[in-house]
Amino acid sequence: MTAPLRQRVALGDRSYDILIGDDLLAAAGSHIAPVLRQRRVIVVTDTTVAALHLAALERSLSDADIRHEAVVLPPGEQTKDFAHLEKLIARLLELKIERGTALVALGGGVIGDLTGFAAAVVLRGIDFVQVPTTLLAQVDSSVGGKTGINTAYGKNLVGSFHQPRLVLADTAALSSLPRRQLLAGYAEVVKYGVIDRPEFFTWLEGHGTAVIEGDPGARQHAVSESCAAKAEIVAEDERERGRRGLLNLGHTFGHALEAETGFGDELLHGEAVAIGMVLALDLSVRLNLCPAADSARLRRHLAAVGLATGVERFQGRIWSPRRLTEHMARDKKVTDGRTTFVMARGIGRAFLSENVDITEVEALLTDTLAA
Ligand code: GLY
Repeated sequence: MTAPLRQRVALGDRSYDILIGDDLLAAAGSHIAPVLRQRRVIVVTDTTVAALHLAALERSLSDADIRHEAVVLPPGEQTKDFAHLEKLIARLLELKIERGTALVALGGGVIGDLTGFAAAVVLRGIDFVQVPTTLLAQVDSSVGGKTGINTAYGKNLVGSFHQPRLVLADTAALSSLPRRQLLAGYAEVVKYGVIDRPEFFTWLEGHGTAVIEGDPGARQHAVSESCAAKAEIVAEDERERGRRGLLNLGHTFGHALEAETGFGDELLHGEAVAIGMVLALDLSVRLNLCPAADSARLRRHLAAVGLATGVERFQGRIWSPRRLTEHMARDKKVTDGRTTFVMARGIGRAFLSENVDITEVEALLTDTLAA
């Protein structure tokens, strides 16, 4: 097996590595052992992922002499709530975990966020390791320490910043992902190119299809570059006081679209982000900040890999620009009543703006939805 690629999240004594490789699960135990304070872990996963990957992870933990138990939760976004957090914590306490016991989150964003939050609060904080198995989790949610659960008032409204001790991204695990989920995760990969990595965007234009189709080298490079991009931003602004907000490119529009569609199967998060990024660039073009060619280039690339770039006739739904801007005004990133938008002066030149006139946003949506 070739050595995994390595990216570092530089956060002083909370720094950690992200390892990216093909078939990393088989060697997970040996990578995890050096970061443990006690040779014991509790693996948290869901039934879908457990069926695919738990046995391989458990074997590698046993091979590395790490004692392990597993907690297997139901799959899906509804698991990321207070009730499942309570159940998970109760189970951890039943298993008599100690402060040195670590949790291992094996799964997608739901498992990573929930497990990370449980690790942040149980016994006033224990260590955890992320083993993300979806593209979205490998390039975004497993890196950077955002953990939490959803509430009746909105998504991710309860949580904490709690950095993992290690992230193991096994790109071979992506082969078991449904194509639609893979594509949705790919939108977050493209995001890093649009934010501040124009060469990466150009690379994606040439290799995006290989990433989607499963070329191992292309997948590893795409995940590694994405993690490098995120690690750099997180190291500079862990608590999202400023620059980390750039990672929300496409998310303000996307979140509004998701809110309208009920955060469900009709529109996946990554699909909403893809459309949201196009809208963010279109808004930048409308305000004479960005060349129209860059927005067209983004649209072309997303469409080339198979992602929808507009909402016009999405599943026959009628969209209301006013309702969408109302969702934006309720976004948790609103400060003093103003929504912060991630805009761009071009591909690779994103910036934050608190001065966007909401009537321009509404006008853009009206034009786009009527088009
Ligand atoms: N997913 C955005 C962030 O981690 O800041």
